[in-house]
Amino acid sequence: MKVTVLGAAGGIGQALALLLKLDLPENSSLSLYDIAAVTPGVAKDLSHIPTSVKVEGYAGDDPSPALEGADVVLICAGVARKPGMDRSDLFNINASIIFKLVAKVAEVAPEACIGIITNPVNTTVAIASEVLKKAGVYNKNKLFGITTLDVIRAEDFVAEKTGLPAEHVRVNVIGGHSGTTILPVLSQVQGVHFSDQEVIELTERIQNAGTEVVEAKAGGGSATLSMARAASIFGVNLVQALLGKQGIIQNAYVDGGNACSPFFTQPLLLGKNGIERVLPFGELSPFEEQKKQEMLSVLHADIQKGIDFVLNKDE
Ligand code: LMR
Repeated sequence: MKVTVLGAAGGIGQALALLLKLDLPENSSLSLYDIAAVTPGVAKDLSHIPTSVKVEGYAGDDPSPALEGADVVLICAGVARKPGMDRSDLFNINASIIFKLVAKVAEVAPEACIGIITNPVNTTVAIASEVLKKAGVYNKNKLFGITTLDVIRAEDFVAEKTGLPAEHVRVNVIGGHSGTTILPVLSQVQGVHFSDQEVIELTERIQNAGTEVVEAKAGGGSATLSMARAASIFGVNLVQALLGKQGIIQNAYVDGGNACSPFFTQPLLLGKNGIERVLPFGELSPFEEQKKQEMLSVLHADIQKGIDFVLNKDE
């Protein structure tokens, strides 16, 4: 399996590359690309870590050499938010970056699975799908918005609140990846009972967790290390599923035929061709059902913005 990281020299990219060097299956290839000239050096640095994962690095304007033969492409290129910004404020810069990079993936590695980390994920995934459709290579089973960070944060915060070991907590997080579109299904967490007030507080904390990091970094960007961990969990699981490992379930933001929204985060059974089956997100409490209904207009507008962006590029 060959995994390519686009945006590999940035804060997320370097940490993600390190985790992939350590955690990808034996004899995988890891290809790093970034416009930054340091990228081959990042690859050289990683190559001195003794695992059988082979690393190569490319810099410059053209990601093509890094994409040749890729099975999985993880995209974290783009700018991060600063305090006071919303993820949607990144649209003006990141939309064009995603447009260009996904067009290259469509040309050089049209069969690859694509995982998008670049914000605003609710919109950049819609941009990617339109670019792939335009190129005639769209496969909805191979395009993912990576929302694993919401899952691991929810698990960590639930563990902190209950005293349960974080490694054993499982939380299903559905919807999208910004503000109120992030919906942790706390009613499904095994072995705990939260009061109504605790559910409200935990839900809000999980929804605002990205902002918690942005504010704590005080102008120095947004989450990089936890995001890299989240993306590596998703990426490594995807690679294992592509290699034939059975029973791998991950949540991600996909075009999964959900009646609520053209793109929606929910559990997916992964397999040799990407999504094998979109799984139901299960029963929701009345509070969660209400929050799901309330988020939909935001999610739909975020998605439409991505579709319109590609449409207007054509005109
Ligand atoms: C996060 O959830 O931490 C990332 O999406 C980055 C951000 O801007 O919040």
